[in-house]
Amino acid sequence: MADKLNGQKVLLCVAGGIAAYKALELVRRLREAGAEVQVAMTDGAQQFVTPLSFQALSGHPTRTSLWDSAAEASMGHIELARWADRVLIAPATAGVLAKLAHGLADDLVSTLCLATTAPLTLAPAMNQRMWQHPATQANLATLRSRGAQVIGPEEGLLAEGESGPGRLSEPAAIVAALAGSAAAAPTDAALQGLKIVVSAGPTFEDLDPVRYLGNRSSGKMGFAVADSAARRGANVVLVAGPVHLPTPAGVTRVDVRSAAQMRDAVFAALPADVYVGAAAVADYTPRVPATRKIKKSGESLALDLVRTPDILSEVAAQTQALKLVVGFAAETENLVEYARGKLMAKRLDLIVANRVGVADGGFESDRNAMTALWKDGQREFVAGPKTRLADELIDLIVERLQA
Ligand code: CTP
Repeated sequence: MADKLNGQKVLLCVAGGIAAYKALELVRRLREAGAEVQVAMTDGAQQFVTPLSFQALSGHPTRTSLWDSAAEASMGHIELARWADRVLIAPATAGVLAKLAHGLADDLVSTLCLATTAPLTLAPAMNQRMWQHPATQANLATLRSRGAQVIGPEEGLLAEGESGPGRLSEPAAIVAALAGSAAAAPTDAALQGLKIVVSAGPTFEDLDPVRYLGNRSSGKMGFAVADSAARRGANVVLVAGPVHLPTPAGVTRVDVRSAAQMRDAVFAALPADVYVGAAAVADYTPRVPATRKIKKSGESLALDLVRTPDILSEVAAQTQALKLVVGFAAETENLVEYARGKLMAKRLDLIVANRVGVADGGFESDRNAMTALWKDGQREFVAGPKTRLADELIDLIVERLQA
């Protein structure tokens, strides 16, 4: 609950992005939750919002410079870094993430972050291409590996008129996540202490140093399932293929690229109570990836591919039996019939079939409709956002665990 913030000293660092205006509401909400808030702004942030606005809302002078002798005389920046019980950067721009990842200390905010030992929470906001850039993702991975909590960004219309991941999470969601209650979802007694391994996203099978075989899986469904399970109290390991999605709060993420790596990561995460195979694992991989770039020659090219391990079947065949093994089936036709075949052939407890190749829903969409099948039952999930479908799937998993 938000009352976990009661009496906490929060240092809010505001970086320069159009979302800086939302940080004003954040101060108000943090104070409503009982936190004491001091604000530090980058030079860029001051192009969007004035220090005076933050001062009025926080009840403390806003810090804007390392070199302000009056401010330093009342509370030096090292003292301020020590004062904080937690540091929140919102919005966290690509530039700030890069500075923090590399330990630069060339302005007030980066210096404070280096000088504090308080837990760090980042709420990124930026243009979607900047968010998806490998440099930004690598910086985030570095910061996460040092224990930073990352909230958002959300998908949606960005200030530049484009759509995609990059919007600052809503202040209420940031405050809730900061308080350790990522959402209002109640923890579920049946999921408490249960270990769930989820695979998500595509796999990429390298052909040569520059090319790979991949597929259009976005990973959104698997990430939503991991998020829902973690929010409700499960201990979740998410084995993710190459996708650019933020790690859900409280989830342990392992990033992989190929089917073989995914298999190793899944088995390293076992034993577990439940396995949810939401990844679109490549069925075939090059027999021998070329060590040098394949040069063109001739009019056609035949690739020599071999089958990948079927991770789902192998998990289902484990001698250390899991309580529930859940597979996914993406089909363009004969949905129920094919999915039931896979349920039997792979000896699964549950299979979730969804139709791909349709206009609304499928791989890259935020929405989907799906049918879950088990030995003697079937349930339709009406079309809706993948986050809602994930919650409903977790409900069904709880039911099947208790059946
Ligand atoms: N799966 C897996 N390892 C593989 C291939 C698939 O674990 N090498 C899992 C997926 O995570 C998913 C399910 O199996 O849960 C999909 O089943 P699959 O038979 O691979 O479906 P398709 O690839 O769609 O099969 P087909 O191409 O024959 O329709």
